[in-house]
Amino acid sequence: MKILILGATGYLGSFLYESLSSLDKYEVFGSSRRESFKTIKADLLDGTQLNNLLKEEDFDIIINSAGHPSPDFCESRPRKALELNTLTSINLIKSLKKIRKKPFLINISTIYVYGDTESQNNENDITQPINYYGFTKLLSELMINHYYQKSLSIRLPMLIGNPYHPNDLIMNIYKTLVETKNIKLENIEKRYPLDVLDVVNLIKSLIKSPIYGQINFFNKQSFTRYQIGIEVQKCLSNLGLKTTVTNDGIYPDPTKWSQVARRHKNLYVSSCHEIVNHFAFTSLTKTLESVYLQNFSKRI
Ligand SMILES: NC(=O)c1ccc[n+]([C@@H]2O[C@H](COP(=O)([O-])OP(=O)(O)OC[C@H]3O[C@@H](n4cnc5c(N)ncnc54)[C@H](OP(=O)(O)O)[C@@H]3O)[C@@H](O)[C@H]2O)c1
Repeated sequence: MKILILGATGYLGSFLYESLSSLDKYEVFGSSRRESFKTIKADLLDGTQLNNLLKEEDFDIIINSAGHPSPDFCESRPRKALELNTLTSINLIKSLKKIRKKPFLINISTIYVYGDTESQNNENDITQPINYYGFTKLLSELMINHYYQKSLSIRLPMLIGNPYHPNDLIMNIYKTLVETKNIKLENIEKRYPLDVLDVVNLIKSLIKSPIYGQINFFNKQSFTRYQIGIEVQKCLSNLGLKTTVTNDGIYPDPTKWSQVARRHKNLYVSSCHEIVNHFAFTSLTKTLESVYLQNFSKRI
């Protein structure tokens, strides 16, 4: 089975690439705007490059994990955000229309397609993006769903579990704690950190039994950034490093962006799909133990 991962150098894409490549049953290809020994160079904003990429092989599955995941970047640079998150998807459907064998398209989306509501949102509820990032991702979902039926958009919360990528929240907290022995973290917004390995396992199930449309893939355990920091601090304390984590941080840093995106205070998302409701999600404690502890102890 041939799988193409778009955005294979990214936080999620690189993890998907490594995990799926390690399994014999899949032949995995990756692409990004940069050529490397792992990725084929193809800018999704360039129709010709995209057409050529899709002609390389008869792909069975395409996973679209390309785009820009920062809500504040999208709020500050709306035109660029629309290009990277929506136009890339429109180009992708146009190119898919031109090929004979139609692959199953798995499109990675976000829970920011929902508004700030107290009620639970499942896939049948009306979406109302809370910020411009969510708007660009929702537009991408709608275009894909409308023009390419053999597709599924997976809406994800904040991801953790890829310590080798520079955007990893937990490694960034860890590095600050090791370097300066203290960190200030924001303690208002609840987040639902999801282990990227859970996304891999969901995708493996979907490859066996595809679902089309949308799916909310959401862990039920919530933490503020401060609470995540406390969990990291406990691990470091067990390794003999004393650090201070305080709850007076500000996130996002307003000096870094011309516009800061609105975020949910405590969004709870549910799903109508059995596969999500019966999924054994990895807890934060388990992710810290199985993924991060070895990295922490190597470097202390
Ligand atoms: N990270 C999260 O916590 C999170 C949570 C929910 C949803 N998501 C969604 O998951 C997806 C992946 O997020 P991520 O965190 O992995 O993002 P990321 O680390 O920024 O990676 C984005 C990837 O997209 C590629 N890319 C960007 N523009 C491109 C273009 N014009 N043509 C071809 N490739 C392009 C980048 O490759 P090059 O720069 O090498 O070209 C990179 O491989 C995004 O759609 C995001 O909305 C992420």
